[in-house]
Amino acid sequence: MSTNASDTPRALVYDTPGEPLDALSLRELPALTPPGPGQVHLRFLSSPINPSDINTVQGKYPLMPTLPGGVPGHEGVAEVTAVGPQVSGLSVGDWAVPIKPAQGTWRTAGTFPAEHWHAVPRDIGLAAAATICINPPTALAMLENFIALKPGDTVAQNGATSAVGEAVIQIARARGIKTINLIRERPDMEATVARLKALGADLVTTEERLKDDLKASGLPAPKLGFNCVGGNAAQAVTRILADGGVLVTYGGMSMQPVTAGTAAMIFKDISFRGFWLSGRWAETQGADGRRAALDAIVALYRSGALQAPQLAPFPLAPSGGDAAAWRRAFEHVAQAHRGAKVVFDMSGGGGGSA
Ligand SMILES: NC(=O)c1ccc[n+]([C@@H]2O[C@H](COP(=O)([O-])OP(=O)(O)OC[C@H]3O[C@@H](n4cnc5c(N)ncnc54)[C@H](OP(=O)(O)O)[C@@H]3O)[C@@H](O)[C@H]2O)c1
Repeated sequence: MSTNASDTPRALVYDTPGEPLDALSLRELPALTPPGPGQVHLRFLSSPINPSDINTVQGKYPLMPTLPGGVPGHEGVAEVTAVGPQVSGLSVGDWAVPIKPAQGTWRTAGTFPAEHWHAVPRDIGLAAAATICINPPTALAMLENFIALKPGDTVAQNGATSAVGEAVIQIARARGIKTINLIRERPDMEATVARLKALGADLVTTEERLKDDLKASGLPAPKLGFNCVGGNAAQAVTRILADGGVLVTYGGMSMQPVTAGTAAMIFKDISFRGFWLSGRWAETQGADGRRAALDAIVALYRSGALQAPQLAPFPLAPSGGDAAAWRRAFEHVAQAHRGAKVVFDMSGGGGGSA
């Protein structure tokens, strides 16, 4: 479909927090007017549904659009279709991604401050560009910010099939760091293990098999652990950390609290830390640091060290088509073991390709 800036933009919008299928509706927005000083017009191509987006619509995330009339979506890639005066760094035809959260990417087009967007090269491909802002920089920052790791060191993580987890595996491998990866029991266990190993995972196992599989692997005890699940899965990672190791919690997919084993704290002096990319990390980095992190991820894609996640695309607002297609995106996102990042596709079915 055409989403020229002159078209009427459409967006998923909510007025009060709630479950996405209840709270959101697809609405027409006012037609775009020429961009003012420092502004650009963006035509969106692909915008993911990340867990933090769901939490945002539910009213459980600290960063959210202004309500009523808020457009969710913290991540996505858009094409610059018009540039106002006093804009530098972005030109018509560029692909741009947000460096500031809560820009509202679940829309076909809009007018935005250019300073909140960063150009990314088309040669990394649409899937990489659409998903570059949040999960790969989280993996990179967590590998760099807590412990000085050197080649041969080991990190452990749960939720290894997450977009962050897959980026951790690949960035670690590029640095000679070994990964111990916990995943949930699943029907497609063999295929999932093979997929993560192909990305560079050294060990892929479950909570139940971890102790035996780690012993058999001969891998050294990890100094650093990443937790995006909570509950028993957090304890499982904590339990195998080396003396003085650090568990970094960055997500809570199971909705269970992180409980620390007493022995791990007393006998191994394990530390518990937290990481938040869009909050503390972003503030510390400033705009220049955030742009530099994105450029570092682009370089990883270009070097072949990173592969883009699989996408499961759903049209946001097909003209003359199924106006409720966006609803199926949320049904798909709720499925366990989906193995792909659900995105709203505004590119017209593969348009905007590299
Ligand atoms: N703090 C930060 O700065 C930051 C940045 C990025 C992401 N995050 C957080 O990191 C987490 C992962 O995000 P993502 O975008 O990478 O995820 P994603 O690609 O959407 O994948 C979701 C992951 O969570 C697992 N999962 C889902 N429900 C679960 C449950 N009830 N128990 C255990 N595991 C469950 C899935 O396992 P299956 O494959 O088995 O379904 C999958 O590994 C989220 O909590 C997100 O909010 C935080």
